[in-house]
Amino acid sequence: TLLGVVLVLFVFYLLSSSPGAGKDPPGPRPLPLLGNLLHFDLKHLQVSLCEMSKKYGSVFTVYFGRRKVVVLAGYKTVKQALVNYAEEFGDREITPLFRDLSKGHGVLFTNGDTWKELRRFALSNLRDFGMGKRGSEEKIIEESRYLIEVFENFKGKPFNTTQPVNYSVSNIISAIMYGSRFDYADSTFQKMVDRANEITRLAGSSEIRLYIIFPWLRWCCGRWLVKRTQILKNTDDNIEDIKGLAQGLKDTLNPQDLRGFVDSFLVRQQQESDQPGSYFHNNNLHFTVGDLFVAGTDTTGTTLRWGLLLMAKYPHIQDQVQEELSRVIGEREPRVEDRRNLPYTDAVIHEIQRLANIVPMSLPHTTSCDISFQGYFIKKGTTVIPLLMSVLQDEEEWETPHSFNPGHFLDEKGCFIRRDAFMPFSAGRRACLGESLARMELFLFFTFLLQRFSFSPPPGVSEDELDLTPSVGFTLNPSPHQLCAVSRI
Ligand code: HEM
Repeated sequence: TLLGVVLVLFVFYLLSSSPGAGKDPPGPRPLPLLGNLLHFDLKHLQVSLCEMSKKYGSVFTVYFGRRKVVVLAGYKTVKQALVNYAEEFGDREITPLFRDLSKGHGVLFTNGDTWKELRRFALSNLRDFGMGKRGSEEKIIEESRYLIEVFENFKGKPFNTTQPVNYSVSNIISAIMYGSRFDYADSTFQKMVDRANEITRLAGSSEIRLYIIFPWLRWCCGRWLVKRTQILKNTDDNIEDIKGLAQGLKDTLNPQDLRGFVDSFLVRQQQESDQPGSYFHNNNLHFTVGDLFVAGTDTTGTTLRWGLLLMAKYPHIQDQVQEELSRVIGEREPRVEDRRNLPYTDAVIHEIQRLANIVPMSLPHTTSCDISFQGYFIKKGTTVIPLLMSVLQDEEEWETPHSFNPGHFLDEKGCFIRRDAFMPFSAGRRACLGESLARMELFLFFTFLLQRFSFSPPPGVSEDELDLTPSVGFTLNPSPHQLCAVSRI
């Protein structure tokens, strides 16, 4: 009988590992419990993974502790997975930290019908509140004027661009959410923006990466996970502030005159008040607003700051942008429709995004079913990292992948060309839902600022000395630096 049982178990094992569906993707041999921890530089995980892809190919396996993770590298593979196998690779991995943060609500860290409904609602509302007189373009233009005022106050002296840029970018998403912008001196607003930035900074720390790899650390060493506690506190505080703002809007709601996303959500909530399973409850309202605020602030602000730093580092490129702006727009304010007549500026903005590579490992995905992919078998529920850095710097796709070269997006006549491997917003089912808004913001803020100012290093610092090494965070930020914004008028 024992032999019979062993045989049955063996057959079961063979069946459950799906022979015929393909083999496991290759990868470094993991150690018990630690997995491949010793193979990574945790601080620069994306760089370690890019290095590994050279050895193991474009689909490979690593172990975060005991958890198996499949990494997808290079344009062809990432595109094939996220676009051609969109359903299969399209679920979000809910890491323990994401679960702590979202508590199962909102759009960033959910799956299934909650995510589907909220994503659809968010997309259509970003579109609706992005059009017409009160649309995003007007909001960004108004905000650019405020930002210029702040920059002018420094009178050409060196300053850190982080706070002014973050405040103005946050005000766009705030105005879309609540229907009006905040004064930069508003203390609730300041706290919300500063907390959102703190959350993304802490989320990329080695401590949090270690916690993601070994979630059980929470049970044995919870009180030493200081950064986790800080992230949770910042998130809770922001949710409390959002609750207060949403309540104020509820008290003054006029369904005939919707001011923004929150109003629209509240109306939907009223319409579905008799449906017990409705997704439009308060928790989803507060967490979705929180998600859009966090996802829409640091990302766009960081990209814009990379842009200003790169202009200061490469003055000959800055000169060409300014020459084009003067020739095509002159002294009037830029509009979105100017983009098609500004091929060089457009190419520069794309190249800033490509080189800045601010979300190098995207957000983690998980497989929604067993998949046979490029001859490999990947089990349902496997964590997947689409390595966007390996796409944006793919040596088969880009002529000079590691240097700043706007020519990547220009043909020989100087016309703008789209490049398929330009994928900073990821692709497929979970692609960034703020892409159109972010692109509009980057174009308008950048052209307003470059029309008005020339950016340069502080006195005594040469262009060569401006450091392009990113600082560690969930998004790749420029290292702390100061710039001078010298008025051109
Ligand atoms: C998701 C990049 C701006 C909202 C993402 C993802 C990336 C990304 C790489 C992960 C996609 C995936 O899982 O495959 C960027 C970049 C931005 C930017 C580079 C600016 C330069 C924004 C803005 C908003 C936003 C302005 C808000 C309006 C979101 C949301 C998700 C997301 C809600 C989650 C989508 C989902 O899970 O369905 N973004 N983003 N992002 N982004 Fe953005």
